[in-house]
Amino acid sequence: MNAEAIAPKAEGYLLLGVIGCPVAQSKSPLMHGAALKEMGLEGSYVPLHVEPERLGETIAAMRTLGFRGFNVTIPHKLAIMDYLDDVDERAREIGAVNTVLNEGGRLKGYNTDGIGYVRSLKAEAAPELAGKRAVVIGAGGAARGIVDALLRENPASVTIVNRDATKAASLADAMASRGRVAALGTDKLQEAASAADILINTTSVGMYPQESATPIPAEWIPGGIVVSDLIYNPLETRMLREAAQRGCTVHGGLGMFVYQGAYALEYWTGRPAPAGVMREALLRNFG
Ligand code: ATR
Repeated sequence: MNAEAIAPKAEGYLLLGVIGCPVAQSKSPLMHGAALKEMGLEGSYVPLHVEPERLGETIAAMRTLGFRGFNVTIPHKLAIMDYLDDVDERAREIGAVNTVLNEGGRLKGYNTDGIGYVRSLKAEAAPELAGKRAVVIGAGGAARGIVDALLRENPASVTIVNRDATKAASLADAMASRGRVAALGTDKLQEAASAADILINTTSVGMYPQESATPIPAEWIPGGIVVSDLIYNPLETRMLREAAQRGCTVHGGLGMFVYQGAYALEYWTGRPAPAGVMREALLRNFG
């Protein structure tokens, strides 16, 4: 296909969306809808339910319809790369794309999850990450982006702790050239946490509807450190509640969600995104 020949068609009208399966629960349409309104842009951000076997034809349709860009969520973050014209180096390293930009018919993939996370962590809880010892619980797709973004901040070390220690080790190996990265199994979590300045949960443990679960016993969390959870439903997980009780600075997942969206919107519009308005729209929705 001659990608150059297919440029966005609805001149001036910004077509945006998110593809996922499932996608009905996504808060992205709400957040981006509020942002477009605030920016005075005419456009729509729509949720698109796409089964894995329909991904290829969906991407062709996005080109045909002239979508300016779209987000990509579970389970397409990896598979999407086969259908794009170009993938940003950082997204390639992370191995996942969450944002696609249509530049005159050429589709390019980016990853804004990790940078969105670190921007929010610095803004809300830990302004300085250089020289800090970070412990990351989990070694899945989310952890990859977070470890990548953390390493760009020059921490003293990043220790990945995962139930499946071999997965932690392979993520650590992939990132080893970029800084001090270690990998441990969950049996070493207590020891790792005792030496942490920042403790980050990237697993789904504690997410709605399993809100009574926590990835770490409260007594293993050192008092006074920064404790961060990627989960934003609930806004305050059990881990964060218990960490706050121990005098820790806590950081929930809402900011990461806001900033990954803000970076994406900045790619699509070339303008600063109204992160405050986006956050408020979400908070209103959460009641
Ligand atoms: P994501 O893209 O959201 O990171 P993922 O790639 O499925 O999702 O990764 C989920 C992570 O949470 C993994 O590190 C997983 O541990 P394993 O690699 O050992 O499977 C971790 N995880 C999920 N449920 C867990 C549980 N109940 N206890 C401990 N870790 C869990």
